[in-house]
Amino acid sequence: MRVKVLGIESSCDDTSAAVLIDGKLYSNVINSQSIHQKYGGVVPELASRAHQQNIVLVVKEALELAELSFADIDLIAFTRGPGLLGSLLVGSSFAKGLAIAGGKKIIGVNHLHGHLLAHFLREKNEPDFVPKYPFLCLLVSGGHTQIIVVKSALNYEIIGETIDDAAGEAFDKCAKVLGLGYPGGPIIDKLAQKGNPDSIKFSKPQIPNFDFSFSGLKTSFLYHIRDQIHKNPEYLSDNLENICASLQKTIVEILADKLAKAAKITGIKEISISGGVSANSGLRTQLLNMAEKNSWNLHLPKLKYTTDNAAMIALVGYYRFIEGYYDSLDVSTEAKLNF
Ligand code: KG4
Ligand code: ZN
Repeated sequence: MRVKVLGIESSCDDTSAAVLIDGKLYSNVINSQSIHQKYGGVVPELASRAHQQNIVLVVKEALELAELSFADIDLIAFTRGPGLLGSLLVGSSFAKGLAIAGGKKIIGVNHLHGHLLAHFLREKNEPDFVPKYPFLCLLVSGGHTQIIVVKSALNYEIIGETIDDAAGEAFDKCAKVLGLGYPGGPIIDKLAQKGNPDSIKFSKPQIPNFDFSFSGLKTSFLYHIRDQIHKNPEYLSDNLENICASLQKTIVEILADKLAKAAKITGIKEISISGGVSANSGLRTQLLNMAEKNSWNLHLPKLKYTTDNAAMIALVGYYRFIEGYYDSLDVSTEAKLNF
């Protein structure tokens, strides 16, 4: 039997739907909500309202691009958490409504499992170059920073995580201090490419094991900017590119050092990154250099699969479904769903 999966993702500010047939991607439609830009962060009430406005059109387009009708679908996989509750509820209620109306099976997927397995997304005729199990994944997004041993498609172990802010949050909060837009990560990345990464030294945390911390960096960044503006009111405009390059270098080094330590101690040389921050050009370059030095097989996700998308949710649903799992209609939606 060919398994046709409709994926639905609405955990934050992207409304997305995708279709997979036998694990291959046939469509992946993403509507990124622009309304939040002017507020410097995602406004939960506006996000859930925008999901309600977008979801029917996004699902319809995903089915059309895959040249399927809803009747053809075998399974609906939706994000059940973690994320913004109001946003999650739009996707989960819509998925459940569709399942009841069409007599379809459903699976509630953990959003983070989607990011982990995004490396396995392949379009119809695309060849496979995928990580071999077990592999290490540095999952870096707006809400999470973790190092995970991925033992199989359904078996993962977190060996390190942030004790406070996530890496993406550090980018976004520092961008806010600089008066840049939201999300700040891509803006800092772009400006950093024209700056000198060694112009300012920000302190790095001393955290044991494979764990991370970014709140100290955020505070020292804020104090640095405040003190320098006090001395020179034009400090920001005079030095913006250097500030971004130095900040990015510090965040990248914190991430890369811990990943290298995890690779050394576990002996795993199959290495990957995922989540929104895995789009960062500085992180990618640093890891490519380290991969060469340490003989890693490095897997960098395609940029289009780094940020939130329904294709990765559909893929996790597919892997679970072919192992015989699916959920009942009362599967819960949880803002703080455990890994
Ligand atoms: O995975 P994602 O789309 O959403 C969450 O699940 O959080 O990640 C969004 C995060 C934001 O913090 C954004 O600033 C960051 O990813 N991000 C980047 C870049 N592109 C997105 N951070 C640094 N450099 C980038 N190029
Ligand atoms: Zn995400």
